[in-house]
Amino acid sequence: MSAHQSLFEPCVLNASLTLANRIVMAPLTRCMAGPGLVPTQAMADYYGRRADAGLIISEATIIRPDGQGYPDTPGIYTQAQIEGWKRVTDAVHAEGGKIFLQLWHVGRLAHSHFSGEQPVAPSAIAFEGTVPRMRDLSYETPRALAQEDIARLVEDYAQAAENAITAGFDGVEIHGANGYLIDQFLHFDTNHRDDDYGRTPENMSRFALQVVDAVVTRVGAERTGLRLTPGAYTHMAADARDREVFDYLLARLNERELAYLHLGIFDDSLTFDFLGGRASEYLRRHYSGTLIGVGGLTPESASEGLAQGKFDLAAIGRPFIANPDYVRRVQQAEPLVDYHQDMLAELV
Ligand SMILES: Cc1cc2nc3c(=O)[nH]c(=O)nc-3n(C[C@H](O)[C@H](O)[C@H](O)COP(=O)(O)O)c2cc1C
Repeated sequence: MSAHQSLFEPCVLNASLTLANRIVMAPLTRCMAGPGLVPTQAMADYYGRRADAGLIISEATIIRPDGQGYPDTPGIYTQAQIEGWKRVTDAVHAEGGKIFLQLWHVGRLAHSHFSGEQPVAPSAIAFEGTVPRMRDLSYETPRALAQEDIARLVEDYAQAAENAITAGFDGVEIHGANGYLIDQFLHFDTNHRDDDYGRTPENMSRFALQVVDAVVTRVGAERTGLRLTPGAYTHMAADARDREVFDYLLARLNERELAYLHLGIFDDSLTFDFLGGRASEYLRRHYSGTLIGVGGLTPESASEGLAQGKFDLAAIGRPFIANPDYVRRVQQAEPLVDYHQDMLAELV
């Protein structure tokens, strides 16, 4: 029997989805899509090797061309991309696994280098810095979205979710975390709007909730997850007023019976004064549904967190890059290979 038994208990997410264990492979961008941002056979093999996770969440996948902020990130808006993803979902399902697609638009972290279009965002405020992996490109000042652009975006998220289901995914995770488009609406640092999408917690939550509701209408709440970063730890500055936005948003999410809510953070030992502690503790207090914890979890801290009810599922990121057989190693109490960023050069 494994030393970390709580990781290996099945999890009934809802009437249509039961996970074989509580280990989630966190979404991990690898920048390895082929021409046309189409997933490759190597990506299918990579995900297939990790299919013994209770749930895999795919690397973030762009919903339309102007959502791209890194080279060779896959898309889910062309027929060829849908067919490429079908190879991935087939590989995971052949091994008995489950996989959600993470729906992504980077907002102001996009670059016209990729799509030929000026980036869009809630407000015309540039992020200072250069595009990762393309250090000669500085971020551009985005165009503030008009209300009709927002309606189009909501529809594009819903269409991308439908495309994911067509490609065989078990569900979708809306990427509302890590300073990308949806998160840019949720924080005062990046949202300076004075219309129905800015100024107040209700208005600043509006875009996130419209995307959630459109995706739920298209593919079902039981197949929709959401990732959120209340702590604003990356790509933006935290503001104590953000807390009220998340209090409001989480209360509304409690009414929606999503498959799960997933924390977005690299290190969950960080504490935030304005959240009253760790981001996972804040979400646990305010969200009543299934919560995925993440951020520097080891087999020990993950199983303890589950046993103590801090979260219901444990997402593992970097260790899954270093250990395709992470689940087996933990179950058999074998040592894990340490992650190193040089491992990003190859899909193993
Ligand atoms: C190389 C790399 C790529 C990542 N890509 C994504 C991504 O596409 N979407 C996302 O929500 N988070 C992404 N993350 C964050 C991870 O999902 C996870 O939250 C983070 O790595 C902390 O978990 P860990 O300590 O187990 O690695 C990425 C992290 C790394 C290291």
